[in-house]
Amino acid sequence: MQQPDPTPRPALHPDTVAVTAGRPPRVQGRPVNPPVVLSSTYVSQGIPGDELLYARAGNETWVPFEETLAALEHGTHAVVLGSGMAAIAAALGDVPPGGTVVVPRHAYQVSLGYLDDLARRHNVEVRRVDVADTDAVLAALDGADLLLAESPTNPMLEVADLPAILTAARERGVTSVVDNTFATPLGQRPLELGADVVVHSVTKYLAGHSDVVLGAVVTSDDAIADRIQAYRTLHGAIAGPLEVYLALRGLRTLHLRVERAAANAAELARRLDAHPAVAEVRHPSLPHDPGHRRATAQMAHFGAIVGVRPVGGPAAADAVVAAVRLWLPATSLGGVESMLERRRRFATESPTVPEDLLRLSVGVEDVEDLWADLAAALDAA
Ligand SMILES: Cc1ncc(COP(=O)(O)O)c(C=O)c1O
Repeated sequence: MQQPDPTPRPALHPDTVAVTAGRPPRVQGRPVNPPVVLSSTYVSQGIPGDELLYARAGNETWVPFEETLAALEHGTHAVVLGSGMAAIAAALGDVPPGGTVVVPRHAYQVSLGYLDDLARRHNVEVRRVDVADTDAVLAALDGADLLLAESPTNPMLEVADLPAILTAARERGVTSVVDNTFATPLGQRPLELGADVVVHSVTKYLAGHSDVVLGAVVTSDDAIADRIQAYRTLHGAIAGPLEVYLALRGLRTLHLRVERAAANAAELARRLDAHPAVAEVRHPSLPHDPGHRRATAQMAHFGAIVGVRPVGGPAAADAVVAAVRLWLPATSLGGVESMLERRRRFATESPTVPEDLLRLSVGVEDVEDLWADLAAALDAA
């Protein structure tokens, strides 16, 4: 876990932070990148304290990644874990048996599945809300223990009024957790908007190359950070050093990748919106999108996930997925390569997600090549 930095940092631009944070000290002849430490244990006399003892409890390769992510999210502590779901499970670890959690009805389906499991095993009440409906969220927060928010949501891209719901959660003593996977810290920094905790599927934009599965929790609350770190050690929900090295390498270009992917996404959303074979496009960049005004006010970019419903329903959607040659049919997002999938092919996806919704994760390829492939698949569907 990253230790709080006692020296005041100059206010660097986030793009500079992504490149410069977490570097080793400048020492003549020493590497500019942190080394990968492959060791399950450390030489130790067993003296308790901060020293490294055993690699389930701490690994030097975690630290530079954690420092960089904490700096980007403007938190004081980041804790890297073995997956985004491990991060979410850790962040939900304080929900008491019989407690209450508020969550968007269109949150990531496995997060919802995890909450269903808590409901079954620990009698936790799960209040699923339309997170874009601020009054509904505020009403649901009464008597709740924890809010697990997504904005934009996966896969419907609803945009919450984060300042309003996070302030309301704080006023009611409800712990707030924001899954910032879609927006990234370059799109929004929920801790500054009042969140207690940020979680990430590092697998997605932060690592950015579809080659690792990792998660992270970020907070400025010392007690929460201690608890998350203890969760990681006790549950063994740890990240491998090689994966964390790759994630830090990816994080160095987060700003370049996200800027290009978001620009590609906005352009494709605009073209899809005008295409006769498309019934609906969801992307906050579109002026008619329900989340457009809020996203414009709250976010530095509109993100690179686009929802598309082709004319012709689920069969047409499946035909598009089968016809693309450049886009990859696969279930992930946030990589440099463009991917798409029909979400309801999963029986566990929320039934209020339309059967024919394609989730596009727009990558950093040339936008004309992406468009030509997609338009040809739509024409053929
Ligand atoms: C928004 C969101 N949160 C969390 C997760 C879970 O992350 P992981 O697959 O790294 O466990 C995902 C995965 O798709 C996601 O999209």
